[in-house]
Amino acid sequence: MTKKQNFQAMGALLKAKFLAKGTPLLINWAITYKCNNQCLYCKIAEQKVEELETSQIIKLIDVLHKENSLMINFTGGEPLVHPDIDKILQYTAEKGISIILNTNGILLSEKESLLDYVQTVKLSFDGPMEIHDKLRGKGTFVKAIQAIETVEKSKAKLMLCTVLSQYNLDSIEYILNATKKLDSLVFFQPITPEILGSAQPNPLLPEIAKYRKAIDNLLELKRSKSLGKYIANSYTALKYLYDWPNVRKINCAAGLLFAHISADGYLMRCARNAGPCRMEKLDPKHDFRESFEMLRKQKKVPCYCTGMLEFNSLLELNLESSVNLLKKTEKIS
Ligand SMILES: C[S@@+](CC[C@H](N)C(=O)[O-])C[C@H]1O[C@@H](n2cnc3c(N)ncnc32)[C@H](O)[C@@H]1O
Ligand code: SF4
Repeated sequence: MTKKQNFQAMGALLKAKFLAKGTPLLINWAITYKCNNQCLYCKIAEQKVEELETSQIIKLIDVLHKENSLMINFTGGEPLVHPDIDKILQYTAEKGISIILNTNGILLSEKESLLDYVQTVKLSFDGPMEIHDKLRGKGTFVKAIQAIETVEKSKAKLMLCTVLSQYNLDSIEYILNATKKLDSLVFFQPITPEILGSAQPNPLLPEIAKYRKAIDNLLELKRSKSLGKYIANSYTALKYLYDWPNVRKINCAAGLLFAHISADGYLMRCARNAGPCRMEKLDPKHDFRESFEMLRKQKKVPCYCTGMLEFNSLLELNLESSVNLLKKTEKIS
């Protein structure tokens, strides 16, 4: 982010904290639920909804621009399968909104030119080839490596994202060494109790004791000189996530600093906390600000969404996580 954007973000944070006035600084947008892959822990692509038309998406970007959004994380489904993704990214970039592209990487080398519009590629990376392919499908590891090479040739920054499941708790050091080689960052995300996008129990959940040992290991690694700086999660967030799957309820900054937009144009807190906070469909009859502010109604929620968790700690004025977020944002945007 530019210096000006940093000041804007600081102003928005103070307004949110002390005046309870919200700014949608970060929008997490599932631009489509369609996907070119079938990961074991995700059935988002099975959600059949009437997705927003590109013209509606463009109008919504105009609204977000007026509302001073600084960053949109385009996710999905797989955002690169959206037929108009080039137009959407170009329009967003022209509005001066920074772009994070959350992708499985499969199509990235084919769509290399899109990276001209993107600040950060958030690439899913679940471990060594055997494990990544087991979770995300045969051949996906090679595709992820190709995606990394594509990002390295571009001006975009790379960030990895690892879902912690029963298969990769022993691969944390492998993942961190890979991140170090790339001089990048990695966010660790606990797996959801249900398969994402469905109500089905997730068969990939790790044993709680093993998961907690892995988080202890991550905390230890975060303290280490050689690997610590490559972990994007703050100590505060990691300590909080230690209690998964029974984390305490915390203040959610949705409606104050961030929001999620679903593929069919609903405003929500986040993808993992959708149930109780699904909002009115965004159409010309519904004012964005009104819907955004309604997200605040249910304040305390359990939060497993690693990126949003960092924002929530920001609102609590937690020094460690705020400094961590600032440093990490500097590195990847
Ligand atoms: C739904 S995907 C969409 C973006 C893109 N298709 C991808 O796979 O990176 C967004 C993120 O959610 C993660 N994810 C998927 N299923 C999950 C689950 N059950 N629990 C936690 N994270 C999950 C993915 O690994 C990815 O990092
Ligand atoms: S995690 Fe991403 S790549 Fe995997 S099935 Fe879900 S949307 Fe597709």
